[in-house]
Amino acid sequence: MIRLPYVEPVFRPPSEARSLILQVTNGCSWNNCTFCEMYTQPQKKFRLKPQDEIEQELAAVAESGIPIRRIFLADGDVMTLSFRRLKLIMQAIRQHLPDMQRVSSYCLPRNLKNKTIAELAELNELGLNLFYVGCESGDDLVLERVSKGENFDSSMAALKKIKAAGARSSVMILNGMGGRRYSEQHAVNSALLMNEAQPEYLSTLVVSFPTGMDRYQAGFKGEFEPLDQAGLFQEMYWLLDTLQLENTIFRSDHASNYLVLKGTLNKDKPRLLATVRAALERPGSVGLRPEWLRGL
Ligand SMILES: C[S@@+](CC[C@H](N)C(=O)[O-])C[C@H]1O[C@@H](n2cnc3c(N)ncnc32)[C@H](O)[C@@H]1O
Ligand code: SF4
Repeated sequence: MIRLPYVEPVFRPPSEARSLILQVTNGCSWNNCTFCEMYTQPQKKFRLKPQDEIEQELAAVAESGIPIRRIFLADGDVMTLSFRRLKLIMQAIRQHLPDMQRVSSYCLPRNLKNKTIAELAELNELGLNLFYVGCESGDDLVLERVSKGENFDSSMAALKKIKAAGARSSVMILNGMGGRRYSEQHAVNSALLMNEAQPEYLSTLVVSFPTGMDRYQAGFKGEFEPLDQAGLFQEMYWLLDTLQLENTIFRSDHASNYLVLKGTLNKDKPRLLATVRAALERPGSVGLRPEWLRGL
């Protein structure tokens, strides 16, 4: 058992539960999205860890003899690092943990703006082969209301670059993000973004406000009306119905969701749509996650 010196809290995607979490940066350099409180505490001020500290941690992990096949690079904004820094990190991982099969990180679309496909392909070759991209929506108006600093085109450009480099992307879309007023356009435009990008993985989370909605409401000039369960399911129906995916693993099983949905799209689209329709039309007929089990 080894203990790495984390600056808490540390977040990771659910699918990285069994990965080594290597905190090469702290916090998020943007930290402006009005729904996201993950890195707002004072100790989470953005900072990148010096290379020698990263190498010491990798050496300690290698020395422990614990077999490590997957690493998730934390925190929320690792891909803001330059290609040069990322390459040094990946080379150090290769050197200390040569059996590594998958290295992943969160990735804001604009993090890739100043990186070429050839650079991303080189990182992919070194093992950095999966990016969790928080697109959140494909609708420009909703993205502007939540201060994501991205739009349909910037998200699309990043997803295309990842694919061209031979890496994979796992996209997150936020159910309920546009409230009642923008629900349908948020769902449809998010689906259109996915149709054009054809990501390898897609997941949806329900937008949640554990510390209150004031900041979020300000972005919507007070007109944000949260969706109730039926509204969330209707939005999910619009999203699934518009999706035209060739082979994307779809997961709506994060702890924030009431209704758990899993499948491969489009293969499982009829089954998933039927489940959502049942949740809408016969609420008692489908198992829902109780409120007390929900979380971020
Ligand atoms: C830790 S963040 C890092 C994402 C990365 N910085 C990006 O923007 O691509 C991971 C994801 O958590 C989700 N998230 C953050 N705050 C949330 C909230 N209040 N409710 C639901 N999901 C949230 C968003 O989908 C976000 O992309
Ligand atoms: S969603 Fe991502 S970019 Fe936005 S504040 Fe959170 S960590 Fe930063």
